[in-house]
Amino acid sequence: MKNGNDYFETLFTDMPDSLLGGSSLATMQDSLVNAVFDQSKKMIGNMVEFRELMMMYNCAMKTVKTKFDVLNTEFKVRHQRNPIKFIDTRLKRTSSIMEKMERNNITFSLENIEEHITDVAGIRVICSYLDDIYVIAKALTDQDDVTLITRKDYIANPKPNGYRSLHLIISIPVFFSEQIKQLKVEVQIRTIAMDFWASLEHQLKYKQENPNSEEISVELKECSEIISDTDTRMLKIRKKIESSSGKPTDEELLFEKLKKFDLPLE
Ligand code: GTP
Ligand code: MG
Repeated sequence: MKNGNDYFETLFTDMPDSLLGGSSLATMQDSLVNAVFDQSKKMIGNMVEFRELMMMYNCAMKTVKTKFDVLNTEFKVRHQRNPIKFIDTRLKRTSSIMEKMERNNITFSLENIEEHITDVAGIRVICSYLDDIYVIAKALTDQDDVTLITRKDYIANPKPNGYRSLHLIISIPVFFSEQIKQLKVEVQIRTIAMDFWASLEHQLKYKQENPNSEEISVELKECSEIISDTDTRMLKIRKKIESSSGKPTDEELLFEKLKKFDLPLE
């Protein structure tokens, strides 16, 4: 069976002397093998570095998730209710990173990913009420190690299709064994109702070949307005209940304090 060297041998033996330019066959063979080896080494090195970068983004995501978990636990002990219903995290797939860079005419490199792709690490926080979104967002961005890069309020200014959410791009330091790495994380904060609308709209968007797409867009927009109205009304109901409960007596206050001891700290 022929090995790689045999093929090179044949290639160079069949080549006219003029093309070999005076170099010996062995020298040409060696330099070609070395070039291929160097190239492969570089490629493997790049793949290892890419994997490391993704690991770092994963850790950045965990760090931000912990920040939200801490805020939620604190809120629960102080106010006996969770402002956060649940948290979703996702790391952007390699193919999606590549596709986004190609779409935006950005050369694929680790430096460019860090500089231009702000949603490699994504975290979605689902809140109970409208006001919780802003309380949670402020509590996060007020932290000393959190740098706010961009803030898009699609609740105050919904997208034309009816999409609502508060989007933040933040940068945080993540502590590794030999370095502190500053990494960007995309945070989307929305209510349960907004999340319900966004996930269904996202699913529908990918269902192609719809002959009534104009009609569906109008209907989706209407649903978004109904949902927004419901969010506002639910918040009003909560506030009404809170204010109607009046000023607690000393006995009630003492009882409230006692109740807090039973709260699980999770
Ligand atoms: P990319 O879509 O990631 O290129 O971001 P962008 O620069 O347009 O930023 P934007 O803040 O508008 O959107 C970021 C993310 O929010 C998207 O990737 C979606 O997850 C979500 N999003 C934005 N618009 C919509 C929408 O109309 N519907 C749904 N379902 N999600 C949306
Ligand atoms: Mg995105």
